[in-house]
Amino acid sequence: MGYKEIYQRYTQSILAGTLKPGEKVPSIRVLAEDLGVAKKTVEAAYDILIGEGYLVSRGARGTIVNPELFIKKQPAETPQLVLEDKSLKQIIDLRDNKGYFRLGIPSLDEFPYKKWLLLSGKAIRAMRPEEMLNPPIMGHPPLRQAIANYLNISRGLNCKAEQIFITSGYKSSIALILQTLSVQNDKCIFEDPGYFFGQKLLKRIVHNLHYVPVDAQGLNVDYLLQHHHDAKFVITSPAHHSPLAVALSLPRRQQLLQWAVQTKAWVIEDDYDGEFHYTKKVIPALKSQDTDDRVIYVGTFSKTIMPSMRVSYIVMPTELIGKFKETGEIIETSQPLLPQKILTLFLSEGHFFKHLKKMRALYQQRRMMVYSALETVYPGLFAYEHTDGGMHIVVFLKQGVQDVQLAELWNSFNLQVFPLSSWYSQKNKRYGLVIGYTNIQSEQEAIAALSLAYKDTMALLKLGAE
Ligand SMILES: Cc1ncc(COP(=O)(O)O)c(C=O)c1O
Repeated sequence: MGYKEIYQRYTQSILAGTLKPGEKVPSIRVLAEDLGVAKKTVEAAYDILIGEGYLVSRGARGTIVNPELFIKKQPAETPQLVLEDKSLKQIIDLRDNKGYFRLGIPSLDEFPYKKWLLLSGKAIRAMRPEEMLNPPIMGHPPLRQAIANYLNISRGLNCKAEQIFITSGYKSSIALILQTLSVQNDKCIFEDPGYFFGQKLLKRIVHNLHYVPVDAQGLNVDYLLQHHHDAKFVITSPAHHSPLAVALSLPRRQQLLQWAVQTKAWVIEDDYDGEFHYTKKVIPALKSQDTDDRVIYVGTFSKTIMPSMRVSYIVMPTELIGKFKETGEIIETSQPLLPQKILTLFLSEGHFFKHLKKMRALYQQRRMMVYSALETVYPGLFAYEHTDGGMHIVVFLKQGVQDVQLAELWNSFNLQVFPLSSWYSQKNKRYGLVIGYTNIQSEQEAIAALSLAYKDTMALLKLGAE
């Protein structure tokens, strides 16, 4: 490589705006070593760049891109991001757009940031050189232990640290389980309605996918036994169904576990927000009732701490630990160590329990605020089937089936609600809105937000606005 090429690389990057005025560039010696050329070659290129005013040398403080350069903005040449799957695009937009009533986001205003910062510092200072290698594939052992302790006490499980596999979220947990245990044509059952990202994932990775309806008692296990007795996997959210928010009844739990034992099927329990219950009646994890190790439990810290940390976990049946380890070593990358260490401190020093207690009280209040605001602004429009727990509510349209249009309308006013009917895969649907309440700070705020869409809502549903 000659000096001309180096010169061209710099001018191109600077004019394209990728290398910005004021940014530091490598020293002559370092760049020469990096490119494998003589120092003289780089020196010649830098001399011209400095001479023409692209770079400025500041002696011992290094060379930078001329801070006084004015780079005219190029007409946008950014590659266009086109998503062909329109329903996926809608979901992602709703998930990522700012606004009221967002779904499944922990209360951001009440997170103990100071404590988290303190523990982060502590975890960083405790990092040892040998911890810069690949972290263990199944997770940081002290975190696996802390999670097992928590699950045994809070969710009634009876698991050992060795059964915990740390993953980076629901999708990675489900994919890892299916990659470990399923063979080509195994029948897999998902709930209808069911978690939209679950549907999308399963449609893509499972060839033999079927749905079982959910009613007021949760997954319809009679229907499962009648139509899909031969299934190998059932993926379900028994403590707090997503999205209907109902709990799987005790008789159905027993029926489901019995079937799994008899047919050697696996029940994958998605306990995504089971920590949040507001009455005295704590809904137990299905895994806590599973004496034959047929339930594979999937949990997450996305709801209890923060989604951006990307830490979740699987509780593996004891006999399968080796299989999971093998698959994990092939298809997974281990999770970053530092967040796991911070989380370990958060759990083992008792902050997690305190945080959950505080959030339960807060969410219960916020939930009531939203119910009450809905009744104030839209009296008689929705039917409520008061369920307990979780981080969202479902309100059903008393009349009509226009939940998609209604949600679109509300979204245009920054109310990020989901239409219930779009969570169904089969024809038999219910119509309503799925509404998150965790970040609503007062009833007045909820009323003001809901009122924004009042006139248009009345017009859409052809009801007389007062
Ligand atoms: C039904 C359901 N399961 C699982 C999750 C957890 O997702 P993750 O751990 O990937 O953040 C969520 C989060 O929104 C959810 O709604």
